[in-house]
Amino acid sequence: MEKKLKNLEEECLKAVIKAENLEELKKLEIKYLGRKGKLTLILRGLKDLPKEQKPLIGKLSNEVKNTLEKAFEEKKQKLESAGIEKELKKEFFDTTIPGKARKIGHIHPISRLQEEVERIFSQMGFAIMDGPEAESEYYNFEGLNIPEDHPARDMQDTFFIKGKGDKKHGRMVLRTHTSPVQIRTMEKYGAPLRVIIPGRCFRYEATDASHDSTFYQVEGLLVDEKTSLGHLKGILAEFLTRLFSKPVKIRFRPGYFPFVEPGLEVDFSCFICKGKGCRVCKHTGWIEFMGAGMVHENVLKSGGIDSKKYQGWAFGFGLTRLTMMRHEIDDIRLLTSGNLRFIKQF
Ligand code: DAH
Repeated sequence: MEKKLKNLEEECLKAVIKAENLEELKKLEIKYLGRKGKLTLILRGLKDLPKEQKPLIGKLSNEVKNTLEKAFEEKKQKLESAGIEKELKKEFFDTTIPGKARKIGHIHPISRLQEEVERIFSQMGFAIMDGPEAESEYYNFEGLNIPEDHPARDMQDTFFIKGKGDKKHGRMVLRTHTSPVQIRTMEKYGAPLRVIIPGRCFRYEATDASHDSTFYQVEGLLVDEKTSLGHLKGILAEFLTRLFSKPVKIRFRPGYFPFVEPGLEVDFSCFICKGKGCRVCKHTGWIEFMGAGMVHENVLKSGGIDSKKYQGWAFGFGLTRLTMMRHEIDDIRLLTSGNLRFIKQF
């Protein structure tokens, strides 16, 4: 019996030394120390031994058991730490290598100006509206009192989208201005109204330094009882003064747009030379800013608004153009060129 135990111990220790991974070790443990393991079977046989042999063999088997348990435990730890080392080796990285700089972009100058415009007008109680870029002829033209023979509807100015369209709304176009959203907003919310509508517009025209097929506008619309152009002048002066953080003056000239009556061209005093004359204002002291006027009766009607009770004014300016003036950018095409050397300057 004694010999059997000794042999078992030796055999098991050898196997433990040879074990190459935790899985193998686990199997060995079950083989020798498990419930039906070799040592367990021997221990079970103890009770059949002659009485005088029991203490000696009992002691010996306990010793063998302890030795083996210890051997298993030590080997287990060894294999585990070897595993971790292996993992670490795999993931090793050299902390002395210089880091890779993360390239952080920034907001586009047009978007930044748009955010500023929105902030100032919201402070003055205007809501910000949005409308579709693919628009029907009805909203883009007819509803705005732009007759069929108006030059703006020319194939040369408008991108038409393939398809038949429907009787009431006509064909689909890429909106040529943000004005169609005036009607959509009136239809949806009725009067009184105080909104601005920033958005992207499209025109089918040859591009040059001051024309691009895609550009941004901001539309303004105020409808209420007893509105006047005086309010428009006040709002615009306040808006530009806040935008440029300098006092800005407004000048109205007569202008023509089918959707307003009377129609106006609006200029503001040059924010660079303060009216003295410089390159930006072409030495006139004034900068041509936008079209505006009192909303035409027919447009109020298109929007479902009672033109006996309500009047309003509207305006539309080029957000892209204002961005160009602000940063003295002399070619509109640079803004959407995707040229990083250009855009990183802002
Ligand atoms: N929609 C005009 C354009 O694209 C700009 C404009 C002029 C808008 C007068 C208006 C307005 O609301 O009243 O040229």
